[in-house]
Amino acid sequence: SEPSKLQILGSTYAADNWTNVTPTILDKTGRNLLHQPAHPLAILKELIFKEFPTFAHYDAITPDVSTYNNFDSLGFAQDHIGRSRSDTYYINENMLLRTHTSAHQLQLLKAGKKGDRSLLDHARNGSAAPMNERFLVAADVYRRDEIDASHYPVFHQMEGVCTFSRAEIQKIKAAASSPNSSTSSAAQVSDTTVISSENPKQPEHTDEEVAFLVEDMKQTMNNMVVQILTKAVAAKRTAGNADNTQTEFPVRWIDATFPFTSPSWEMEVLFQGEWLEICGCGIMKQKILSDAGMTDRVGWAFGFGLERLAMLLFGVPDIRLFWSTDPRFTDQFAPGQINTFKSFSRHPPCPKDVSFWLPQGGEFHENDLMDLIRDIAGDLAEGVKLVDEFTHPKTGKSSRCYRINYCSMDRNVTHEEINEIQERVRGQMVQRLGITLR
Ligand code: PHE
Repeated sequence: SEPSKLQILGSTYAADNWTNVTPTILDKTGRNLLHQPAHPLAILKELIFKEFPTFAHYDAITPDVSTYNNFDSLGFAQDHIGRSRSDTYYINENMLLRTHTSAHQLQLLKAGKKGDRSLLDHARNGSAAPMNERFLVAADVYRRDEIDASHYPVFHQMEGVCTFSRAEIQKIKAAASSPNSSTSSAAQVSDTTVISSENPKQPEHTDEEVAFLVEDMKQTMNNMVVQILTKAVAAKRTAGNADNTQTEFPVRWIDATFPFTSPSWEMEVLFQGEWLEICGCGIMKQKILSDAGMTDRVGWAFGFGLERLAMLLFGVPDIRLFWSTDPRFTDQFAPGQINTFKSFSRHPPCPKDVSFWLPQGGEFHENDLMDLIRDIAGDLAEGVKLVDEFTHPKTGKSSRCYRINYCSMDRNVTHEEINEIQERVRGQMVQRLGITLR
């Protein structure tokens, strides 16, 4: 039985039949990792904020947002997969835990119009531009997901939004092409951007405007990534890590699709021999700007995950470590510094298998199993993997076997304690998922 009222950071919500947030997840909403100055994620956030001195910086907007702001305002179709209850944590039918920082685009673009200062007051710097025209949002975001070393149901994103008035673009372009200007403000991006029918420009935009915005976006993102990776390499060299000598960071732009940008790309950067997916980005849909009352403005946006980059910069091997309160983790970092994490001893893992028949005629969602395990085992569950699957040829019944790897980051676990947890997991699977144990 679900509680009928939910408390999230001082707000009270009525639960309904959409509610699927769990106590384990609600606990995370109060952890505020981005506000602990010596936490790697907060250090990375500050590094990025510094690269954008003319943008307003937001990092204290709570994660309870309306379904409208998270999806509808951004043009997500009614049947978009991201809206499903197996992917998203719903507070109730109308409210959810934001799945991305883009949830605040419309809200922040609108702020400052109609005298609404409620969100603007969260902005941390007095940037040169009005705070709703250029901004960064760093925040915790929530997605139902599998359990392994690189996935966690809570992670962090940084959104960047940059808008220009059309007159401003003309002025910048005129200045750049005048004979006595020495530097062009448009980026010198080496590749030619192909805007194709699969990744089209919007009819509201001229070719010139799109070209300007794309160049500006790519240059801005390039600079940010190069600055940060250069700092990371320098820090590692100072720490005596001589195998880190990379000085150039080639990037590539892969065509992508988002409901709220067109054209859209994923930015990837070559770091230590691997193409790393950094972020999604693109030219903002004009409808969002006009819904915000900015009919004369155009803009670009990006959104990227902080964990992947932080794991690389700080050498953190497991995403769960960011949530550790063990001083052997937290004491290794200091504000403004990129220290390389020295792992403490890995404790022996304790794998347990569970085999069961899927509910006949009923539904089974893997993410329901993941949340059930998280609820009972917390961060002791290091990974959950499907290891066997078959359908009985005669009865048509389907069987699955999952291996739950239990492992603590800071101590040895006993078989007794894990057996007890595993028994509870098995019992709850029967009760809550309608499966039959084998
Ligand atoms: N919100 C997108 C995501 O979470 C990323 C994105 C942001 C893409 C802004 C384009 C523009 O995947």
